[in-house]
Amino acid sequence: MRKLVVIGSINMDVVSTVGQFPRPGETIHSRGTSFFPGGKGANQAVAAASAGADCAMVGAVGLDPFGKTLVASLEERGVGVTSVLSKTGTSGMAIITVNEEGENYIVLSEGANGQLTEEDVAAVVKWDGVYAVLLQNEIPWQTTQYVIQSANKAGVRVWLNPAPAREVPHDVLPLIDTLIVNETEAEVVSGLKVEDAATADAAAASIIGRGTSNVIITLGEQGCFYGNAKGERFTVPAFRVTPVDTTAAGDTFIGAYAAACTEGQETEEALQFATAAAALTVTRPGAQASIPSKEEIMAFINK
Ligand code: RIB
Repeated sequence: MRKLVVIGSINMDVVSTVGQFPRPGETIHSRGTSFFPGGKGANQAVAAASAGADCAMVGAVGLDPFGKTLVASLEERGVGVTSVLSKTGTSGMAIITVNEEGENYIVLSEGANGQLTEEDVAAVVKWDGVYAVLLQNEIPWQTTQYVIQSANKAGVRVWLNPAPAREVPHDVLPLIDTLIVNETEAEVVSGLKVEDAATADAAAASIIGRGTSNVIITLGEQGCFYGNAKGERFTVPAFRVTPVDTTAAGDTFIGAYAAACTEGQETEEALQFATAAAALTVTRPGAQASIPSKEEIMAFINK
């Protein structure tokens, strides 16, 4: 099977559930607090491995007690961890508040993720047999940029999820095989407001015009939009579910889509599979804890 490599963040998520979000200056009681392994990179790796892919993680954890728990969580879900490094200091951490509607606020503390250098990556990554490398925006941009260039030279597809949102330099866009963004990220990258399929089409066209081969824009309850440089365009509808916690829905979508593509599924079918995986994730609390297996995704699609 063709391999996936995820190079990105690994966080401990400290999640408090509340009725409504507090206003600035207000103190409220939480309904409970839990610790969940998370991080956009690690979540995408777990989603890919859970959906059946051969997936390895490249990242860094701290020498604090969370570091071991975070590596164990990846390993338990079938992710290769031999290239997860340990760094002096704390692991990455995300302080998350989830309200009754399942929406969240996330405050990130980068910890060891911020210490992952291009030298670290160069020392551990081998591109032989790799189908695609998945990148996000929770490690230093310099490291991400190095990976983009190195993977391109080796002929490996680069899939970039620029989350949390930040602009992508114009000279980098032609090096991206697939850009996967939500409405906000699409707006930051394209400079165009995105709120539905028509505006997603315009934003995708602008990004493709600047050299990216494939653009996927997730639109929440409106599903997702796909466009490519060959002129193909379509939307895939969302599944209707009652949200409990939307954390890691986007990560699950990306990991499951990548897994389906490495298996040779057609784009539309792979996007339906990813949409189902993300729908299941929002019905459960936590990041990695909420990510479904391939069997669960298939059962949900066939229901
Ligand atoms: O995308 C969800 C993730 O964002 C959380 O798991 C948290 O760690 C932050 O990185």
